[in-house]
Amino acid sequence: MGEPPPDGLQRILIPADPLTARTRELGREISEHYGDRVPVLVGVLKGAIVFLADLMRAVDVPVECDFIAVSSYGRASRSSGVVKLVADLSLPIEGREVLIVEDIVDTGRTLAYLQRNLETRQPRSVRVCTLLDKAARREVPVALHHVGFTIPDEFVVGYGLDYAGRFRNLPYIAVLDQGHPSGP
Ligand code: PRP
Repeated sequence: MGEPPPDGLQRILIPADPLTARTRELGREISEHYGDRVPVLVGVLKGAIVFLADLMRAVDVPVECDFIAVSSYGRASRSSGVVKLVADLSLPIEGREVLIVEDIVDTGRTLAYLQRNLETRQPRSVRVCTLLDKAARREVPVALHHVGFTIPDEFVVGYGLDYAGRFRNLPYIAVLDQGHPSGP
């Protein structure tokens, strides 16, 4: 057994090595799909930054990248209701192949909003790559084209994902200790 996880965490769900290995596989899938069609990888801030940084280095065909930020209202922890655009893309995507890169899809509301929003700009295609799929929580059906791991319904942090702004810098995915004094 390795070291116990830091304070506030219950256990490590996906260690760093499997994250790296799966990200490389996803990079290969994406490279094969697009070939020389130069997709725009759209990272959804803030959670996707770590995954996007690793994923784009696992893609061996030409890509561009951009970022978009959204927020959800009225949620105690993660996910619920209305989604709002906080920061827009810097690139036009008309006629482009777009790959939305997410850290996690939970209810699907954020992604459904993003897909609707981006489709209005007449891209050639909009596909989705998510590192984590919390499929049991889905409320809105969304198509996922590349999925790293399907995970159980537990509150996860690390590798970009936060709780109250913390834990994004962990190099692995961990389950938050809900009973801890600093937990939700
Ligand atoms: C997370 C994640 C997705 C969204 C998924 O972002 O990055 O964008 O929640 O939830 P949903 O499927 O229920 O809509 P969050 O709002 O926590 O913001 P962050 O990326 O800045 O941490």
